Amino acid sequence: MKFPILRLQRLRQNPILRKMFQEIRLSVSDLIMPYFVVPGRGVKKEINSMPGQYHFSIDVFLEELEEVKNLKIPAIILFGIPKIKDNMGSEAYDEEGIIQSAVRAIKEKIPEIVIITDVCLCEYTDHGHCGLISNNKIDNDLSLELISKIALSQARAGADIVAPSDMMDGRVKSIREILDKNGYYQIPIMSYAVKYASSFYGPFREAASCAPLFGDRKNYQMDYRRDKEAILEAGLDIQEGADILMVKPALAYLDIISKIKEKFNHPLAAYSVSGEYNMVKAASKAGWIKEEEMIAEILTGIKRAGADIIITYFAKDVAKLIHGGVI
Ligand code: PBG
Repeated sequence: MKFPILRLQRLRQNPILRKMFQEIRLSVSDLIMPYFVVPGRGVKKEINSMPGQYHFSIDVFLEELEEVKNLKIPAIILFGIPKIKDNMGSEAYDEEGIIQSAVRAIKEKIPEIVIITDVCLCEYTDHGHCGLISNNKIDNDLSLELISKIALSQARAGADIVAPSDMMDGRVKSIREILDKNGYYQIPIMSYAVKYASSFYGPFREAASCAPLFGDRKNYQMDYRRDKEAILEAGLDIQEGADILMVKPALAYLDIISKIKEKFNHPLAAYSVSGEYNMVKAASKAGWIKEEEMIAEILTGIKRAGADIIITYFAKDVAKLIHGGVI
C-alpha cells in the first residue's frame, strides 16, 4: 500500500491519536535517581558542575528520600564521598563507611526504596583510580579482592543491588563468589558492563572529587572508537553472573544499547551521565532549549534504543512530568 491510499499523517492529526499510537512510553518505574552522600550533619550543598544536584549528609538525605518515595521512583544509586581518602580506598569497605552508614539509615526509615550501591575505589582512593596501584600501574587482580570486599560490606549493610563500575576484568565473577559464599546469593549484580572512557563524566568527577591524580582511565574503561568489543564485555559479564547489564554513557551510545539488547535480551540499564545532564541544564539556563521537552525526548530515545531502566539525574523531574500527565 502506498500514497495516496496510505497517508501516515492521518494518525498524527491530534494529541489524542498520537498518544493512542505511542509505541514507547516512559514510566516512573523505569527510573533510578543517583545521589552523592557526604559525611557530617545538616549538609545540602549544590554541586557546582551539576546545578540542581546536591551533596547530602545522611540526616538531610532521609528527608529528600521521602520525596523520592512519594514520587514512586523505585530505586536510587548511591555514591559516597569519604572523610578520608587513602591509597587503599579503606573507607569503601569499612563497616562504618559513608555508604554502609547511609544504607543502614535508609533501610531503617524508608525500607521500600531499592538501594543500588556503586562499587568502586575511585571515590575512596587518594590517587582517584578505580583500582589499586602497584609499580605505578593499576593492578587488576589485586584490585578484585578489594572490589569484592566493598560489594560484600554493602550487601551486609543492606544494599539491594550492587553495581560494580570499576571496569576491572573478572570483577563480576569475584563479587558473585564472595556474595554467594556469605549467603547473599539473592543480591543481584548490576554490572557497568559496557563503560566507555568518556569526557561526559567530567561533572561527576568534580561532584565526587575523584578525578585521577595522574593519567586517565583509558587503560581500563573502553575506547569509544570500538563497538563490537561491547558485545564481548556484555557476554563475559553475563557468563560471570551479571543480572543486569549497563551501558554508560547513554546519549552518545544509543547504537550500543540497541545492539546489546538485540544480541542478549538480558535486563539492561542505561546511565545517562553527569555531562548529559549538565549540557541540558546549561542550554536551558541560557534560554536556548525547552528543558522539559528536551528531557522527555532524550530519555524516550534511550528507552527506544532498548534500555529497560534508566539512571538519570532527571529522575525526579521526569517522575513529576509523568504524574502530571505532561509525558
Ligand atoms: C566511578 C563512577 C564514575 C561515574 C559513575 N561511577 C566516574 C568515572 O568512572 O570516572 C560517572 C557517572 C556520571 O558521570 O554521572 N567509577
